[in-house]
Parts: sequence; structure tokens; C-alpha cells
Amino acid sequence: MKLGCCYYPEQWDETMWAQDARLMGEVGIDIVRIGEFAWSFMEPSPGDYGWEWLDKAIDILGDAGLKIILGTPTATPPKWLVDLYPEILAFDEQGRGRGFGSRRHYCFSSKVYRREAARIVKQMAQRYGDNPHLIGWQTDNEYGCHDTVRSYSQNAKTAFREWLSDRYETIDALNQAWGTSFWSQLYQNFDEIDLPNLTVTEANPSHQLDFFRFSSDQVVSFNRMQTDILRQASPDKDIYHNFMGHFTQFDHFEVSKDIDVASWDSYPLGFLDQENYRDEDKHRFMRQGHPDFAGFHHDLYRACGTMRGQKNARFAVMEQQPGPVNWAPNNPAPLPGMARLWGHEGRAHGAEMVSYFRWRQAPFAQENLHAGLRRHDNSPAQAFEEVRQLASEIKENPVCPASFQEATKTALVFSYETQWMSQIKPQGRMWDYMQLILDWYGTARSLGLNVDIVPEGGSLDKYDLVLVPSLLHITGQAIKAFESTDAHLVFGPRCGMFTHNMHLPLSLGPDGLQALLPLKVIHSESLPSFHREVGYFEGEEIYGYGWLDHVETRLKPLVSNGAGKGLVFQEENVSLFTTIPDTLFLRKLIDAIAQKIGLETHNLPSGLRVRRGEKTVYGFNYNDGEVSMPSSVVKEGGDYLIGEARLKACGVSLFKK
Ligand code: GAL
Repeated sequence: MKLGCCYYPEQWDETMWAQDARLMGEVGIDIVRIGEFAWSFMEPSPGDYGWEWLDKAIDILGDAGLKIILGTPTATPPKWLVDLYPEILAFDEQGRGRGFGSRRHYCFSSKVYRREAARIVKQMAQRYGDNPHLIGWQTDNEYGCHDTVRSYSQNAKTAFREWLSDRYETIDALNQAWGTSFWSQLYQNFDEIDLPNLTVTEANPSHQLDFFRFSSDQVVSFNRMQTDILRQASPDKDIYHNFMGHFTQFDHFEVSKDIDVASWDSYPLGFLDQENYRDEDKHRFMRQGHPDFAGFHHDLYRACGTMRGQKNARFAVMEQQPGPVNWAPNNPAPLPGMARLWGHEGRAHGAEMVSYFRWRQAPFAQENLHAGLRRHDNSPAQAFEEVRQLASEIKENPVCPASFQEATKTALVFSYETQWMSQIKPQGRMWDYMQLILDWYGTARSLGLNVDIVPEGGSLDKYDLVLVPSLLHITGQAIKAFESTDAHLVFGPRCGMFTHNMHLPLSLGPDGLQALLPLKVIHSESLPSFHREVGYFEGEEIYGYGWLDHVETRLKPLVSNGAGKGLVFQEENVSLFTTIPDTLFLRKLIDAIAQKIGLETHNLPSGLRVRRGEKTVYGFNYNDGEVSMPSSVVKEGGDYLIGEARLKACGVSLFKK
């Protein structure tokens, strides 16, 4: 694994570049990402290109031995471009135009913007496509950041109508698919269709879902427009995009079909504070981040990193938090050691690079309260020496990423469409698909299991245990994957409750699973936060919450509530929850299944995570106090190459047989 950093030569005096480059090399950084917001420097006025500064920056960085990832600057169309073509701007859901002065103000559906973006990308690709210092390109920056996937512009409306007409061909087919006989929504032709915003109450769910699908496809085709140009003019360089944490507005598996390395931006503290984590976790891990935040996203984007058919997954961390960020509701500083821990953790999950954001804190503008590896006066910040230590530990202790992969026998099935359907029809306040995903993932990890994330419909052949926290619609391909694996399948509630268009299936739910498990959901309830479904499992009280599917079946429940209603059904290698299990209940059931199928689990101390390879075990302590690696995890006859069995606060250990 290489280390990198994000650098903005256009923000610093030229006289600093050479010293910065030398220091990067000295601390152990090999790769530097530049350029992704610099359009107004590359082209200060229409057609007047100014590349000299970038030529010079690339030469200086490259001559110092650094390799470069060059970003295309399309996340920040310059002022002159916006003034010349105001129609490129996006519109928010309230119908308000997005203004100039920050970033991501463009609309994915603007043909004019696509033309302009293609032009600047082509210019860059021709100029730097075979530059020996360049190893890769990053397309744009964080598609969708600041809620920008879904634009409600005139351009989007026109493009949506075209998309619908390609998909449905006839308006009758659309009327059928959307169920427009309800509330007099019948359409006579595609030109009548609006975007699903500003309706009086809930818009038609099938309409919303198609708009979400369309918006996702617009990101895919915008990205592909760039990758087509880059591949032609710069065939030997890798293409990256930097995805985000907790972001689901487009299908990342689809975008990943066009890039070589799926990278993502890891800000564990910002996301802990900003997202819907439990208060006790926010409190306990305030300066460390949630122990499953980075691991989950590494595993998700590693899956994305196979979408182009790469034999070995290719994924990276393009931006790693080094200190306090500026954008979450509260912005604490990581405890000493966390910047190093996150780097090692990326490596354990197979990242080929972890790159810190940013080299130096900027004294000006929107992000001047965001830490870097260097302070704004250019003195070293907290993470600087941690990166140096990380660099030397990596160099001295090689690991084989494939060995962690081979040891992974648990899959978790993830679906962007289920997230969209869940947002359109949560049906209850307690339904949160992403929380379900993270809880199931975290439960498996707390049992010491390595987890692969698999897109719905992906092959499940190599696994012993497959976790499906929910899939609101189950595609034909997913059914085949479930039917052809020998793994034990564990399904959560609400599976197969919708058809592709969010109608209710006439077979009743779980539509698509009834050949695997003979039961039918006859009705469902969403349950308020104060209610628990209480049952007993292996002599202990367990809870479900938030949801209850009532079923008709000849099966006797494996776990039931006090009134005898089934909370879990099991037959052969299939188990299904009718409720959302709380994490202790889930953990007990997964552990019991793992025992049954001979999958080795471990009772890890809370806040400790491990990643196990055949001969290597990495341990990460997210606690602010010491913990010990359970002796069952490390096999006899080995050594600790990094750390020891007793891990310090925020400590890392690497054990090798
Ligand atoms: C990312 C973004 C960077 C920077 C960073 C601050 O979302 O890609 O440009 O804004 O956040 O944490």
C-alpha cells in the first residue's frame, strides 16, 4: 500500500512547491493528488488555457519522486462559464437554482455542461495523457456531495422524459407501471410528465423511484463521458473516482464499471457526528470514529473495485481525515494514533493507497478550519509524525492482501435500490435500511468475521454465510444467486415486499423467496420506538423492534414473541427475521448459525476489530483505553510484528504466524 496526500499548488506560492514536495517524500508519501478544483486556473477565460503553472507543479512534484493523480476540474465550473451559460446550473427540490460561489453547482442533465466538461477533460488528457509522472486520473470530485445528484431543472425534466420514453416505449406501459389509475394521474404522452417535486403530498412512489434511477443513470453517463475521453487520450493511466461515506443517491456499482480504482473519502469523526449513529456510540467514539465506519466502506468500495472485471479488487482511500474537519455539526480532533490506525486499517482491507486530505491547512476560504498534515504556518500538525510512523511500519512489514480475501467466508448483500425504496416508503420512523446494513455488518465484525459486501444479484458461491439485512424487491438475478449457493442465508424483514415498480406482489411477500422458505407475509406492521417484541432464544430474553411481518406457514418458529408470533423462521440453510433484531439478538442468532455451519467466530472485546488472513491477523483498537486480543484469534507459533496482544488506546497490532 502506498501513502498519498491531496495538494493544491494553485493555493500556495510557487516558491513553496519544491520544499513541499521534498517533505512529502521525506515523510513517506509516494502519491499526490492535484487539480480537481482548478478549472479557473486552467482556463481563466473562455478558450484561453493557462497550463504553465500546472506543467511546472507536475514537474516539481514528479522530479521529487512523487507520482501524480490528476483530477478533472468539473466539480467547479468557473464563474465565466456560469455567466455564459446559466442553464448549466442545477435546481434543488424546492425548485431553487443553485448559485455560484462554492462547488457542484452544475446539473448532470445539462447538455451544454456535458459539452463544456468534455472540452476541458479532452484538453487535459491531450496535454498530460502520457506524462511520465502521472499514474492516474480522478474524474470530477465526489459525485453527489452536498445533495447534488437529483436536480429539478428544466434540463433534468427534458432528459427524464427521454429516459422514460426509452424505457417504457408507450405511455400505456408507463401508466401501468406507475399505477396512474390512482388519484387521476393518467398521462396521455411523455411530455406531460413532470419531476416528482413540489407535489401537495407524497408523489407517486413508482414515479419517484424512476426519477431516482434516472438521476443515478445521469451520474453514470456523465462519468462515462469523461472516462471515454481519458481512455482514448491516456490509455495507460488508471482512472479513479473518489466516492463518499454514507452516500447512496447513485448506484456506485454502476459508476464503478467505468473506473479502474474505486476510491473513497474517509472522514470517520465527521460522519459519526453527522449521521444517525446511536448516542452512546457518538459519545464513546467521539474522537475515534465508529469502529465499523471505515471497515464497512472499505469493504463496500472493494466490491466496487471489481466491477470492471479486475481479477484482484482495486480500491483506495483518496482522502483520509487527518485532524478536525470543518463540516460536521461538531468537529472534535482525533485521539493521537487514529490517523495511523485508519491508514493500517485501509491496508488490512486491501486498499492500494491511503491518501491524506490535505497536505496543509489553508488559512483562507471555506475550509480554513479543516486540519491538514501541516498547519497553515507550515509547522507539522498532529497527524504528520503518525504518517511517518505508518510509512515505516508498512515498509518493514509486508502483508499479502489476497490472504485476507481468501479467508473471507461471510457476505453481506447490499442494494442501492432497496435504499431508494426505503426512503420512498419507510412506512415507519424506525425503518432505516442503512442503519440495518451497518448493524448487521458490525455484528458480524464484532464476531471476528471478515465480510465482503456483494451487490444484489452478485455471485455468492464462495461464501458459507450470507447476510441479507433486507431487500425490498428481489430481482430474478438475486433469486438465482440465493438458489445456487450452499451458504446459510439469513434474511431480515420486509424482503420481497415490492415488485420492481414498488407494487405489492400478488404472490405476497417474500416475493422470490417462497421456494426457499415456505411462508407468506399476510400483513406487516411498523412499530413505534417505545415498543419491543420480546422473545426468548437459547434461554435469554431477546428483542425485536420497528417492524413485524405476520406470516402464514407450516413452519414452527425458531424464535417467537410472548404471543407466539414468529420472530425467526428457519428451514435447512435459510433463516428469516420478521422483525428488526436488536444487535444482541442478531449476534446470538448469527453466532448460533456460525457454530452450526462450522464458521469460526470470536467474542471480541467491544471496540476491537480484527481482519484475519490465513497467516496474518490485524487488530484495531477503537477504544480510548487498552484491550487484549483474544487468544483464540491469534494462532500459536507466531509473532507480533506491530504492537502486541495488549493493544493500547487507538493501538494497532499485526500478528504473523
Ligand atoms: C471532501 C471533499 C474535499 C474536502 C473534504 C473536507 O468531501 O472531497 O474537497 O472538501 O471533504 O473534509
